[in-house]
Amino acid sequence: MNKKNSVFIATSLDGYIADKNGGIDWLHSIPNPNNNDLGYVEFTKNIDALVMGRTTFETVCGFDIDWPYKKPVFVLSNTLNEMPESYKGKAFLVKGSLHEILEQIHHKGYYRLYIDGGATIQSFLKEDLIDEMLITIIPIVLGGGYPLFSELSKELEFELIESKIFLNQMNQNHYKRKDR
Ligand SMILES: NC(=O)c1ccc[n+]([C@@H]2O[C@H](COP(=O)([O-])OP(=O)(O)OC[C@H]3O[C@@H](n4cnc5c(N)ncnc54)[C@H](OP(=O)(O)O)[C@@H]3O)[C@@H](O)[C@H]2O)c1
Repeated sequence: MNKKNSVFIATSLDGYIADKNGGIDWLHSIPNPNNNDLGYVEFTKNIDALVMGRTTFETVCGFDIDWPYKKPVFVLSNTLNEMPESYKGKAFLVKGSLHEILEQIHHKGYYRLYIDGGATIQSFLKEDLIDEMLITIIPIVLGGGYPLFSELSKELEFELIESKIFLNQMNQNHYKRKDR
């Protein structure tokens, strides 16, 4: 089975994934009367599991909705010692280096992973462990917040394989890591 680590995320024009207060209401600033999912369902069809940072996990837990994921969610955290009771069987705590974590997840039979959360994506990029990124750009300049990207010790080249426009306002670019 081919291993793949994918990102599906929305950013502001200035590259933030959450505002200065961690807020994401601006993600819904473009009217979307027919609830266009911006390709999310199609993307998740080819995903076996999610790997998510603790902050993103806690954000999702704070939404007033049922648990939104049908696939297992592996939560990276060095501070959480146990999954809250209500998430047991849906979300699983993982610890260690990214290589150790990936080995554990692959060993369970999940190979195509959706990597979510700013700091988490940054740490995967630092180890050149991201294979593709679908980035939807919302036309707003936030002026600060949680960045998608951070400094890296080397450049990582991607190629654009598809570009789509949603709701006449949002540009979604699908990038694939060039062969290493
Ligand atoms: N725009 C979008 O589409 C989108 C998508 C996802 C999230 N968000 C937003 O982005 C914000 C969260 O982003 P974030 O940058 O705080 O990051 P994050 O990746 O969600 O969470 C970071 C946390 O993950 C834990 N962690 C453990 N091992 C790690 C490792 N190797 N690398 C990185 N993190 C590790 C740490 O928690 P411990 O302190 O417990 O060790 C760390 O503080 C939230 O506001 C969320 O709503 C937006």
